[in-house]
Amino acid sequence: MTVLPNDHRSQPINLFEYETLAKDHLSKMALDYYSSGAWDEITLRDNRTAFERVKVRPRILVDVSDRNLTTSILGQPLQLPLLIAPMAFQCLAHPDGEVATALAAASAGVGMVLSTMATKSIEEVATACDKFPNSLRWFQLYIHKDRGLTRALVEKAYKAGYKALCLTVDAPVLGQRERDRRNEFTLPLDLHLANLATISELDISHEKGESGLFTYFAQQLNPAVTWHDLEWLQSLSPLPLVIKGILRGDDGVRAVEYGAKAIVVSNHGGRQLDGAIASLDALAEIVAAVNGKVEILLDGGIRRGTDILKALALGAKAVLIGRPILWGLAVSGQLGVSNVISLLQDELNVAMALSGCAKLDDIDPSLLILPRL
Ligand code: FNR
Ligand code: LAC
Repeated sequence: MTVLPNDHRSQPINLFEYETLAKDHLSKMALDYYSSGAWDEITLRDNRTAFERVKVRPRILVDVSDRNLTTSILGQPLQLPLLIAPMAFQCLAHPDGEVATALAAASAGVGMVLSTMATKSIEEVATACDKFPNSLRWFQLYIHKDRGLTRALVEKAYKAGYKALCLTVDAPVLGQRERDRRNEFTLPLDLHLANLATISELDISHEKGESGLFTYFAQQLNPAVTWHDLEWLQSLSPLPLVIKGILRGDDGVRAVEYGAKAIVVSNHGGRQLDGAIASLDALAEIVAAVNGKVEILLDGGIRRGTDILKALALGAKAVLIGRPILWGLAVSGQLGVSNVISLLQDELNVAMALSGCAKLDDIDPSLLILPRL
């Protein structure tokens, strides 16, 4: 494990510095996998520029001496409106992988979503977080063609105490990330699909001329899933359903009709359909269409406290953050993830003070000027 130098001047002071530093700690295959978007990476870039296009109209002369960043999602308290997005293969960044990420999240009082494609199992992560019984931990689900296997995943997550099922709906096939294709992406021999290997020995294999993950999705995931399957899914456990990957108001309305308790506005960090709308640009329409019936979260391109402020002003209850967590994990394991969370917390705190918001409810749409799309 690489420990950050004690010299405080070498300690990253923002998430972009973590990204730069992480490059020295990752193999080319892992760095390319983590950082890539699909095809020309237009959506990947647009997720960031969407935040840059939105301007803030700060309020002045408000008493902001006492600031409160706490909130709740699906009734569970959070110290700040932040969850860690589900991300596959975290042991490529650090041997402690998803366990380190979950511990950092739980100790900071933020949420964590464990991926179906994790390299630590549902049970290992739950056991490691035993001493944080109230932490918000969800399980992200990919529906496999094998229904028995899908059912087993849901049952394991429920039994291990995960609080919601986060169904990802933007990946009936995997997006094409061309660096992964060139690298013939596969896992090193000592890493496995910890949740799937125990049920059915599934793993990512080496494929000539293709990403092994792309092939895995094509062979194992069920691209025939529709709204009608949500009833079956909800019959498998009492866990509330969160749908991740919505970019249209009408789909938001349908998600609510079919029983979702929360939705995540997301384009998968620009890794699926290139050219898809930036998630921040999709948010307002979905918030209006859903009209307060369920909680709305957003991910894609969150790198600064001001980004969280903008997403909340547009109606998100909380945000999820992806890649910067992997950069923190690569640089110094659990400590790095904790630092990334605390940098964002500090930045949100200052951004709220400077825009005249003492609590999250003060962050409203009047704070923003939106670009014409
Ligand atoms: C992801 N994402 C993802 N989503 C999901 O539902 N299941 C998964 O297993 C993964 N795996 C994954 C791996 C890696 C390396 C990345 C970068 C992303 C998408 C993720 O949950 C989230 O939507 C985006 O990462 C958010 O964008 P930012 O914060 O990375 O810009
Ligand atoms: C990814 C998948 C695993 O984005 O969701 O790589």
